[in-house]
Amino acid sequence: MTITVCLIPGDGVGKEVIPAAAQILEELQLGIQFTHAEAGWECFERHGDALPQTTLEAIRAADGALFGATQSPSTKVAGYRSPVLAMRRAFDLYANLRPTTSLPVPGCPEGIDLLIVRENTEGLYSGRERREGDTAITERVITVGASERIARCAFDLARTRPKKLVTIVHKANVLKESDGLFRESCLKVATEYPDVRCDELLVDACAMWLVKKPQRFDVLVMENLFGDILSDEAAGLVGGLGIAPSANIGAGKAAYFEPVHGSAPDIAGKGIANPIGAVLSAAMLLDHVGQPEAARRIERAVTSVLSAGILTRDLGGDATTDQVTREVLARL
Ligand code: NAI
Ligand code: MG
Repeated sequence: MTITVCLIPGDGVGKEVIPAAAQILEELQLGIQFTHAEAGWECFERHGDALPQTTLEAIRAADGALFGATQSPSTKVAGYRSPVLAMRRAFDLYANLRPTTSLPVPGCPEGIDLLIVRENTEGLYSGRERREGDTAITERVITVGASERIARCAFDLARTRPKKLVTIVHKANVLKESDGLFRESCLKVATEYPDVRCDELLVDACAMWLVKKPQRFDVLVMENLFGDILSDEAAGLVGGLGIAPSANIGAGKAAYFEPVHGSAPDIAGKGIANPIGAVLSAAMLLDHVGQPEAARRIERAVTSVLSAGILTRDLGGDATTDQVTREVLARL
């Protein structure tokens, strides 16, 4: 069966790293059929829509989408909606998987192999915000349904990993209602998995332990905003945003894979963006479409390139996006 991959470069460095990742997918000769779609700020400026219907259709038709990044304004712009949030909502992509593993880059501690499983549909990103005079209110929505399904996702994944440990991360000591419910829901799901160990940490303590002893962790499950923040922190442990991949998956076929970083306007257009976050996201896509061996081939090639000291500027080297991509291709 032909695998269809929809490429959505988006804005800024997305336009540099997605073509790099696509070249690597092509090199594997899996007969992947590529489709192309637009999303993001430039797309909004051109078409008045940051996530056109045609893009949604293209994602629906594909086995997986590879997404770059978008440039989102920090102030409200009439008609603009963040395409990543809209994609997650449109396809109910409730799980955001953000793995962090030790890589052979300068300063990276050894023995890290953790996976942040971030609830992707509610929490503080509920979209329920309003102004009441001088007061701004954002509703932090937590439901039993979303909490239980993200917990199941975390426990199912932990089952497949050597350590088989899930850490529930929350702030139930202060957010007694919302995180109280999240914690309860996760602990209830934990009872269905007697073969997986389970512990819990308050989110602030977790932030400290991630720095102090990241090797203690396996799978961590948490609410949307906490997952957003702690996954960037985790990426910082192993070399930064340039190498961090992620997956957005749900119950259906639609899924998209993206480097954790944004459009990086400070380096966009210079040909120096690190393509590895996008390349490792392509490997996660291959796992999703049932090509784990091809995914491992990509990971081995990336590790070999990094070991050889071929590093972009964010990792302390001076290699360009193209050079790193060519070295990965050569090792496939
Ligand atoms: P950013 O991730 O774009 O950049 C943060 C820092 O990391 C910058 O110094 C940048 O140069 C560096 N960096 C990022 N990607 C890199 C790469 N591939 N290689 C080397 N260095 C890299 O985050 P920032 O600056 O906070 O946001 C810029 C824009 O991106 C904003 O408009 C923001 O809304 C958007 N954004 C979009 C995301 C998405 O599409 N999923 C995620 C995060 C931010
Ligand atoms: Mg983020």
